[in-house]
Amino acid sequence: MTSKTFKKNILCIGAGYVGGPTMTVIANKCPNYKVTVVDISQERIDAWNSDRLPIFEPGLKERVLSARGKNLFFSTEIDRCIDEADIIFVSVNTPTKMFGEGAGKAVDLQFIEQTARRIKENSKSNKIVVEKSTLPVRAAEALATILHSGNNSVKFEILSNPEFMAEGTGIRDMESPDRILIGSKDTPSGVAARDVLLDIYLHWVPKDRLITTNLWSSELSKLVANAFLAQRISSINTIASLCEVTEADVTEVSRAIGMDSRIGSKFLNAGPGFGGSCFRKDILNLVYLCEYYQLNDVAAFWEQVVSVNDNQMERYVRRILQAMFNTLVGKKLAVFGFAFKPDTGDTRDAPAIYICKRLLEEKADLKITDPYALDNARKDLHDAEEGVEFIEDPYQAVEGAHGIALITEWSLYKDLDYQKIFDKMEKPAFIFDGRNHLDHQALYEIGFNVYPVGKPALSHL
Ligand code: UDX
Ligand code: ADP
Repeated sequence: MTSKTFKKNILCIGAGYVGGPTMTVIANKCPNYKVTVVDISQERIDAWNSDRLPIFEPGLKERVLSARGKNLFFSTEIDRCIDEADIIFVSVNTPTKMFGEGAGKAVDLQFIEQTARRIKENSKSNKIVVEKSTLPVRAAEALATILHSGNNSVKFEILSNPEFMAEGTGIRDMESPDRILIGSKDTPSGVAARDVLLDIYLHWVPKDRLITTNLWSSELSKLVANAFLAQRISSINTIASLCEVTEADVTEVSRAIGMDSRIGSKFLNAGPGFGGSCFRKDILNLVYLCEYYQLNDVAAFWEQVVSVNDNQMERYVRRILQAMFNTLVGKKLAVFGFAFKPDTGDTRDAPAIYICKRLLEEKADLKITDPYALDNARKDLHDAEEGVEFIEDPYQAVEGAHGIALITEWSLYKDLDYQKIFDKMEKPAFIFDGRNHLDHQALYEIGFNVYPVGKPALSHL
């Protein structure tokens, strides 16, 4: 026992999209462990300690409120918390490096290294350090070298425990995971550390869902899982383009191939391209790794997944431009959805950023609406001097609009009164359903010219 009431002290460094929700679930499921989440950002920690959490995730707030102040704590006292911890999860950001060697592809490891040094400087007892952030393969080695450098007699055991949860379903993914992966060294101390982490997950995860591997397989599996998921999206998006010119229907094709149990039906929805903080970054990281080992054909294969995604966003813009008589100058477009996916306010690498910037380049007037992402959207488009407004109410956003670009499939957009919307718009009225989210036939019958993804347009023109 490290204190009177708790079996162990868990610390998580980094109170972001991964650290915050993951630790909240661990605190809820393991009331006998003290869980502290620290961050360098006072603003983030203040938000975690307030009623307005820094991130929106269904089910998160209730769980934070039920554990906060009991066994879940948010703090900026990083050094003291490191000293007190038995297990330290490292969950700081690992963005793509934008300078020097590997720029645009490799992971920028500066935050990880700073964290490792801080752990080393403030540890007076042995600790288990868990990589939660996505890291390049063999990063554990670098981490161990930093932690054990100098005259420190403290021993650190490094584990890899990548996070597979997706935003918007993060709590559900964490509470009933497909699997939990733990990579460790095959030494007695490595196995003992792994068992300490397994003990935590065994509070709620069935034994057969806990997988153990060596460190490098665990690190690589995270990159590969995201690369495979993204690859499916790029694959179906290439087929969507083919459907648009052949009058095949991508939804029908997805259904037909997805019923083959070897292919499976998930992640086959065509759209304006994938976004989010992981897919692009992790694939580029994989590409960098392959190039480093001179596996150039392998690197080219994975890089193509990203190029297809870039082209898909551009194709969506071109479809709008072509349908609207090849000019958007002065035309009002209501943008439905800015988050990279529904049920999150996160806009990191959201297709909407690229698409809106391109539409602004074409001199369209944008009225952007989104239930949770408008604050982030404002930051993402802060460079746009004019031509963009952020409006909460979708009915207000469509006032006088020539077209609607649906980029994020929020369920609320299905339930809007499209006759009322049509009446408020300029004619001819266009709708570009980037997610095949709406009832296209019904919209067409109202009078809209409907442009889905991967299907022929329904046009009155
Ligand atoms: C992803 C992984 O799913 C998760 O396991 C990992 O831990 C983090 O990265 P996330 O980025 O939160 O999760 O969202 P995800 O649901 O995977 O969607 C990513 C992007 O792909 C979104 O922009 C989404 O709209 C798009 N997508 C997804 C499609 O375009 N079509 C699909 O069929 C599925
Ligand atoms: P992720 O999606 O991987 O969780 P985020 O950017 O949402 O990424 O969160 C990462 C968090 O890590 C941020 O809140 C950031 O302030 C924090 N962070 C970065 N570097 C450090 C550090 N050296 N010590 C503590 N926190 C850090």
